[in-house]
Amino acid sequence: MNIKKICCIGAGYVGGPTMAVIAQKCPLINVTVVDINTDRIAAWNSNDLSKLPVYEPDLDSIIKEARGRNLFFSTEVDNAIDAADMIFISVNTPTKTYGKGKGLAADLKYIELCARQIARVSRQDKIVVEKSTLPVRTASAIKSILDNTGNGVQFQILSNPEFLAEGTAVKDLLEPDRVLIGGDSTKEGKGAIQSLVDIYANWVPKDRILTTNVWSSELSKLTANAFLAQRVSSINAMSVICEKTGADINEVSKAIGMDSRIGPKFLESSVGFGGSCFQKDILNLVYIAKSYGLNEVADYWEQVILMNDYQKNRFSDNIVSTLYNTVSGKKITFLGWAFKKDTNDTRESAAIQVADNLLNERAYIEVYDPKVTEERIYADLEHLNSRNPEENRELLKIRQNPYQASENSHAIAVLTEWDEFKTFDWQKIYDNMKKPAFIFDGRGILDTKTLEKIGFICYQIGSGTKA
Ligand code: UDX
Ligand code: UDX
Ligand code: ADP
Repeated sequence: MNIKKICCIGAGYVGGPTMAVIAQKCPLINVTVVDINTDRIAAWNSNDLSKLPVYEPDLDSIIKEARGRNLFFSTEVDNAIDAADMIFISVNTPTKTYGKGKGLAADLKYIELCARQIARVSRQDKIVVEKSTLPVRTASAIKSILDNTGNGVQFQILSNPEFLAEGTAVKDLLEPDRVLIGGDSTKEGKGAIQSLVDIYANWVPKDRILTTNVWSSELSKLTANAFLAQRVSSINAMSVICEKTGADINEVSKAIGMDSRIGPKFLESSVGFGGSCFQKDILNLVYIAKSYGLNEVADYWEQVILMNDYQKNRFSDNIVSTLYNTVSGKKITFLGWAFKKDTNDTRESAAIQVADNLLNERAYIEVYDPKVTEERIYADLEHLNSRNPEENRELLKIRQNPYQASENSHAIAVLTEWDEFKTFDWQKIYDNMKKPAFIFDGRGILDTKTLEKIGFICYQIGSGTKA
């Protein structure tokens, strides 16, 4: 099928940037991104490109080029579904917060609603593409809903998981390591796969477009995220040993990364991984393993999450014990709230857990993050339900610059690796802090030698050189 019109349901971190790049690279295809969230759609349509709901480097220029030409953002979901030849499902699949599989399984409520809506509205044959990360065999559930509730039209279901990382979304979309497309091996299935291959082939080299069966494609996405998260937990486990033994995690990372079998990427020790995918996908994998009675497999992957929780809690425990076993009434400055640099996304950010732990110890926190909004930070804390919203607002304040956030502070904690933190006037910060002035670098980005010369007492994750 020669695709002329695409509809993408879900205008979030995945749907928005992915469709922007498809529209930019395929000017002959009309791409409409729909969402039920009217504020989000309004923000995507905003003339002020700094107001786009997702911050990603270079995304604004792509939106500027394609929006209004062949890229549209709309709340008219039914119309867009009806008109499209190909529909991407890119809605959220959070971890279930209720019922069977609570805390582990993916909540497929939004996916199912989409499938039912597609079935109800569609009047001609369509290709439905799963973009959201989904448990293995979700495609069969979608197919069953489409076939049993539709108007007799034919649907082909493809799995096309997104591997983009936030903060580098545009680059990852323009130059992906690979594009994965899973589909049926029937004649119709192969035809659907080819239609999607043809879209990507407009800018992705053919040898990077892999086609598999649907289940392999779905499972590959979970596996990729589990392996990546496991690397971070593995290096973080070694960071603790470094701190105890006098080894240095950066030296260890470099030494092992030069082994071509291991490779140098994704070996940065940190206060803990965050983001919308890693934890959710591993929990999902654990749930799938348990549901097949594979307890050893489930325990193996669960350990990646337990290690990550340990790393976050260890960071806040260390702040408390270093500050003479009490932070009650003391001001701690947080540099960074986002789960990593170059994004305004805070989902599962380590900063949230670290802040909650310190607030439980009655610390007073002031946060500076260059991209995260005040409402987002308070919403993250409220979501935990550890204390009432008024208390959160009293105990934690958001500041517009690091100098204000660190005035009279007892300690600085670096939670996100924003580049600008390295260029601050650290002497000025030191002069306005309480003494002794402590820095806890949870990202290993600061030059501790220079900071120590200024007078700071420094702790850096994985650095055992002072052990
Ligand atoms: C991840 C996958 O990389 C991507 O392929 C998938 O599509 C979605 O999930 P994302 O969550 O956006 O992407 O960011 P990623 O760069 O993978 O970082 C995840 C977390 O791990 C961040 O908190 C990051 O700070 C942390 N991390 C990453 C480390 O602590 N150390 C590292 O070496 C790498
Ligand atoms: C290993 C390290 O590779 C080497 O750097 C170190 O100096 C000594 O230990 P070795 O034990 O000789 O070397 O062999 P290796 O090729 O690493 O294989 C170890 C085991 O892992 C073998 O049983 C091999 O069959 C198995 N293996 C390896 C797998 O099952 N799957 C793989 O993908 C790779
Ligand atoms: P992701 O990181 O996977 O892109 P987001 O939460 O950023 O996740 O985006 C998912 C989007 O999907 C949200 O904006 C949400 O409003 C939208 N959404 C969820 N269900 C539906 C639906 N049935 N119809 C349209 N949009 C939906």
